[in-house]
Amino acid sequence: MALECLPEAAKSETFFFGGIPVKIVTIIGARPQFIKAAAVSHAIQLHNQGNPRPYLREVIVHTGQHYDKNMSGVFFKELNIPQPHYNLGIGSGSHGQQTGRMLEAIEKVLMAEKPELVLVYGDTNSTLAGALAAAKLHIPVAHVEAGLRSFNRYMPEEINRVLTDHLAGILFAPTMQAVANLQAEGISPKQIYKSGDVMYDAALLFSESAEAQSRILDQVGLVKGEYILTTIHRAENTDDSARLETIFKSLIAVSGQETVVVPLHPRTRESLRKSNILAKAERCLKIIPPVGYLDMVMLEKNARIIITDSGGVQKEAYFYQVPCITVRAETEWVELVDAGWNRLVLPAETNDLIIAIKSTKIPADKDTSIYGENASAIVVEIICQQGFGGN
Ligand code: UD1
Ligand code: UDP
Repeated sequence: MALECLPEAAKSETFFFGGIPVKIVTIIGARPQFIKAAAVSHAIQLHNQGNPRPYLREVIVHTGQHYDKNMSGVFFKELNIPQPHYNLGIGSGSHGQQTGRMLEAIEKVLMAEKPELVLVYGDTNSTLAGALAAAKLHIPVAHVEAGLRSFNRYMPEEINRVLTDHLAGILFAPTMQAVANLQAEGISPKQIYKSGDVMYDAALLFSESAEAQSRILDQVGLVKGEYILTTIHRAENTDDSARLETIFKSLIAVSGQETVVVPLHPRTRESLRKSNILAKAERCLKIIPPVGYLDMVMLEKNARIIITDSGGVQKEAYFYQVPCITVRAETEWVELVDAGWNRLVLPAETNDLIIAIKSTKIPADKDTSIYGENASAIVVEIICQQGFGGN
């Protein structure tokens, strides 16, 4: 590419580093993706220090899937994620509408930016739209958190993951199980890299700041080690009113004996309101708005038990060695169940959670290495080895 054609920022990078930068477009849009991308963006910045070959120029595209301050803006501020170069402002909608609008808007950005690589994370509609837009333009796609499977096609996430993995040319699998899942679907081993889990990097990176900055325990009135932290937001739990009611009636039953704090996802708040159990839940549980990552880390670290349906929170429970009960029929993070840190309990009766809590034990094995370390640095290193033409 002639130097005259490079955008201003790339020109100055070329001046400093004496080579053509490799341009990566990172596509994110939902809460867990901000956290994962924070770890990888940090690794990209570390890579770029000194005299890197190649220099990586990251262009961040926020689809706008999540948009409330405490579902989006807070993470950019707290986690030092570079401000998005583009915010597509897509917002909420049905799956087809939301994904379709993203696809159209992302395609425009990719046609203008012409990156060497598109980087997508996890399994949301933003992930699929990013991967599909790029693949149709013949731009290589790298998928961080590839190969996870619940084998439940009723989950929107499962559809997004399977399709994204088959669109991507570079697949960063967090676990050996994920590697095996990809191979079982016929994906070439040459495309698969076992990187480990970038969320562990985020946990290590921001733990100190969380300790120093978060006041959440005092603000909510929680005693360390004496409360249960709960998050519920998965469609299979929130969109089935009978199931949602059973889960929240179970939590309300638990609250007779335990303090239960619930940072409530807006989707779940709305479903509880429609089911007419929001008011009772608010009387019995400590229901708070969604919190920023630093507050969440402190809530997780100091909980006695975590009850969740979140993928990220299941792993963070393990990072902080807090036993976890997952309110789902299956999990993608099977190794945590095998290791005894996680149990699947979908309550059928209000007593089921109380029984599960009473029998919860901290496993004897205190190993925290299941997901490896430095996954983000591995991701960056593998990208650099692809020979995208930068130097
Ligand atoms: C999405 C992902 C899910 C991920 C979760 C992380 C898909 C299909 N699902 O689910 O995999 O675990 O993000 O949190 O991509 N809303 C607000 N404010 C916001 C964002 C959402 O009020 O800032 C409300 C809207 O009413 C919206 C609903 O929450 O309709 C659901 O949001 P959406 O992004 O569609 O799905 P999530 O449930 O957040
Ligand atoms: N999280 C947060 N504030 C909250 C709830 C969750 O910062 O109020 C963080 C949590 O620590 C984890 C990530 O969001 O890093 C998980 O996202 P979520 O549960 O929304 O999605 P999932 O992981 O299930 O896709």
